[in-house]
Amino acid sequence: MNKKPLIVGNWKMNPSSLVDSKKLLRKISQKVSKIKKATVVVCPPSLFLLGLKGDYKGSKISFGLQNISSEKAGAYTGEVSANMLSKAGGKFVILGHSERRAMGETDDTISKKIKLALSENLTPVICIGEKVRDTQGEYLLFLKTQISETLSSVSKRDLSKIIIAYEPVWAIGEGSRAMTPRDVHETVLFLRKTLSDIYGKKEAMETKFLYGGSVDFSNARAIMIDGDVDGFLVGRASLDADTFVRIIESTV
Ligand code: PGA
Repeated sequence: MNKKPLIVGNWKMNPSSLVDSKKLLRKISQKVSKIKKATVVVCPPSLFLLGLKGDYKGSKISFGLQNISSEKAGAYTGEVSANMLSKAGGKFVILGHSERRAMGETDDTISKKIKLALSENLTPVICIGEKVRDTQGEYLLFLKTQISETLSSVSKRDLSKIIIAYEPVWAIGEGSRAMTPRDVHETVLFLRKTLSDIYGKKEAMETKFLYGGSVDFSNARAIMIDGDVDGFLVGRASLDADTFVRIIESTV
């Protein structure tokens, strides 16, 4: 494949300890160092980031978090800022994940977070996705509104600095099924067209798209080729080193 794939592991609220996180990272790092072509990112719970970075001796894996605050600094109990992530050596941040949107995060809040992430030279991986698919195509209108409003703080110049993760909410998590490559392709095309209307064709064509939602080594290659995406945002399957590495291998 010509593209350099980007694979982001979203560990969510796992593993349960720093010790187990280090074990998982070590297993992944032993196997990924040989894969030249892919960019690999691990987003652990924020509490484990520094411990993992300190333990990691390689250079293949980049680190990120699953969220940052929408505020720059100050009295915001429980929050972690973009600046803190950047100073800790993080390069990426997942923003607007559906699990965070379900906790009340709005397009407006996500838009503020994107701005802060960019100001710290972090690469935001911005999640977009419909909750349900209806037969009348209402979900298309939903996606169009969601991507436009979430990206409202992103200028034309900054579009190349962000990554869109298309994650249909119904396809996320254990027991769900990944979208077919053809449907991924169609939806990414629609999202690109929406970006093209806002930012221009060239910018939209150059925007990187990931797919997320029940990605596994059995479906990754087909989605990568026929779905026309640049890589994956992987949840559950990123918690098993063998599976995660097989996903990465299948994209190169
Ligand atoms: P999943 O999660 O791979 O477990 O479906 C993806 C995600 O939530 O980013």
